[in-house]
Amino acid sequence: MKNGSKFAIVGGSGAGKSTILNLLEQFYRPEQGRITLGGVDIRDFEIGSYRSLFSYLPQNAPGFDGTVRDFLCYGSGTPHSDEELKELLREVDMTESVEAMGGLDFEVGPGASKLSGGQRQRLAVARMLLTGAGTVLADEATSALDFEGSRRIASLIDKYAAGKTRIIVAHDLSTVQDADMILVLNKGRVDGMGTHVELKETCPAYRRLLTAGEEETA
Ligand SMILES: Nc1ncnc2c1ncn2[C@@H]1O[C@H](COP(=O)(O)OP(=O)(O)OP(=O)(O)O)[C@@H](O)[C@H]1O
Ligand SMILES: [Mg+2]
Repeated sequence: MKNGSKFAIVGGSGAGKSTILNLLEQFYRPEQGRITLGGVDIRDFEIGSYRSLFSYLPQNAPGFDGTVRDFLCYGSGTPHSDEELKELLREVDMTESVEAMGGLDFEVGPGASKLSGGQRQRLAVARMLLTGAGTVLADEATSALDFEGSRRIASLIDKYAAGKTRIIVAHDLSTVQDADMILVLNKGRVDGMGTHVELKETCPAYRRLLTAGEEETA
């Protein structure tokens, strides 16, 4: 896959989309085969520096103890001013929610249980905007948001990631039509790979996903 390209993974529930990102992040290892980066088996990299190559937005934004400020700044080596953090909150439409909580020093724990799923996803995106590394791995990063919120945050991620390599798992196919390459998974198998235009022509499984998506948004 080329540097700076947008690579999308689509497929039904349980198809294996998250598994691919988890393998890339080395949360577990392949039982067969190997994954290489620049010709080197990813297992041969030092894990900390390897993971620091990616900004990972997981499907279920992680539990967390600490304040909104801690959540945002986690993983960033440098201090950030309140102004900077508030600007970020504005970008992800969290200004009002965080004010209602009592501000940046509100304790979100235990396990971020005082935040909704959508609020966690928005803060996770804000954190990426603040500290993000080169390659973006986004696993349905806006799945807990409503339609409009999801489109907005997806375009924010796109804007941020322009020029960066992106591997994006998407449920809403309208967000991946401009991808350089789309991988269609079905029950753990690859059903097709190509651009939106190519897959529409050649891949019945992709067409089925498109039709299902249209019915959802109708
Ligand atoms: N750690 C694991 N060990 C064994 N099987 C797993 C593990 N994680 C997921 N699976 C199984 O692998 C399959 C693919 O799961 P995966 O989470 O990759 O699906 P997905 O395409 O991301 O689905 P969704 O759209 O629902 O998020 C599922 O059948 C799941 O039950
Ligand atoms: Mg998944």
